[in-house]
Amino acid sequence: MAICTTAIRANFLHCLSNPDTQGSEALEYIENGILLIENGKIVACGPADSITVSNNATVVDLGNKLVMPGFVDTHIHYPQVDVMASYGTQLLDWLERYTFPEESRYADKDIAEKTAAFFLDELLKNGTTTALVFGTVHPESVDAFFTEAAARKLRMICGKVMMDRNAPDNLLDTPESSGRDTQRLIDDWHGKDRLGYAVTPRFAPTSTPEQLQVAQQLLNDNPTVHLHTHMAENASECDWVRELFPDVQDYLAVYEKFDLVRKRSVFAHSIHLSDNAWKRLAKAEAAVSHCPCSNLFIGSGLFDLRSAQKHAVKLGLGTDVGGGDSFSLLRASNEAYKIQQLQKHTLTPEHAFYLMTLGGAQALDLDSHIGNFEPGKEADFIVIDEHATPLLSRRASAQSHWRDRLFTLLMLGDDRSIEQTWIMGERHIPSGE
Ligand code: GUN
Ligand code: ZN
Repeated sequence: MAICTTAIRANFLHCLSNPDTQGSEALEYIENGILLIENGKIVACGPADSITVSNNATVVDLGNKLVMPGFVDTHIHYPQVDVMASYGTQLLDWLERYTFPEESRYADKDIAEKTAAFFLDELLKNGTTTALVFGTVHPESVDAFFTEAAARKLRMICGKVMMDRNAPDNLLDTPESSGRDTQRLIDDWHGKDRLGYAVTPRFAPTSTPEQLQVAQQLLNDNPTVHLHTHMAENASECDWVRELFPDVQDYLAVYEKFDLVRKRSVFAHSIHLSDNAWKRLAKAEAAVSHCPCSNLFIGSGLFDLRSAQKHAVKLGLGTDVGGGDSFSLLRASNEAYKIQQLQKHTLTPEHAFYLMTLGGAQALDLDSHIGNFEPGKEADFIVIDEHATPLLSRRASAQSHWRDRLFTLLMLGDDRSIEQTWIMGERHIPSGE
């Protein structure tokens, strides 16, 4: 096979490790660097004068632009694009009034395909190149999603919702049908191209114990898939879980009872947790997705980053579209910062950047493939326009150190700051351009 070599000239910023343990040494900033890519994978990244570029390479000179790894969204729902910015409710009413009626439309394959295409283009426009994604209860919704993701050569994880109680009849499956449909989807899609499957019980209140047992069996039968669900997002939801599972110590223990708390398990939100639950999450090597835009928009609560850090629980950022009101992980990092401000705690720019890139990749156990510019990883990256708006330009121009410029981008940036998105070493051209 012919070797296709590309050399990107720019300034680069990426994480080598976790700034919680390594401080600012965890990040590497390379001014006037080269990212060398062969057949979609990274060969080297370093100062331009340290990297040899062969004569047959395509050189792309981005001048003084900043290049970062693509962002990783650790929790999002593609069929909820059209419930974004729904007015006036908190979680349980929001599900009933807006979300369940909307998700029932996804029995229609055509709607599923069109929304999946729109959703993926929106992610790429916002610099997100990998995500952990909810479908709906309809297996066809996941077929549609994976078809569109494969067409764009994306690294994506998705799953069919398992839900056999406490939802409208037309959105319910059964323990048997959910087991059968999930296994069929795993067989068809898991490990194909860059795609992975997540067993996806919606949350404890919408699955019977029998269905949670089926989820456990699916994980046992398919040890490399993910588990993706919601946990302890909202106070009324937590009360409801206590009523539904009276014999269980706490919310996490419901999932523990069915052996769903493992490496590659991702629990979205996890706001209302005890110190002891954090400790158990860490021990199980499970991950949490912090979704600040959603937590504020549907009024769920303030995430306890201090406890997540104290116990070194694997953590990523999620937008949780459509509870969240933005596709942008830059907007998420802005709200995450403010949520910590309200609790007299500080989210550093290094840590926020880590959560959006390498930390998210580690939370999804994908860090051998993506998350930074280490040799061998897949070349998914974004080009930042630090001067995308007059305000951004004014603030960026006033700062010389990359750390200050990074903080400006995290607080004031959005999709306008993402000038280009590259997938496997090729520039993604948005439809319509
Ligand atoms: N808990 C159960 N289902 C959902 C959902 O669709 N969105 C959010 N944010 N929380 C949930
Ligand atoms: Zn969610």
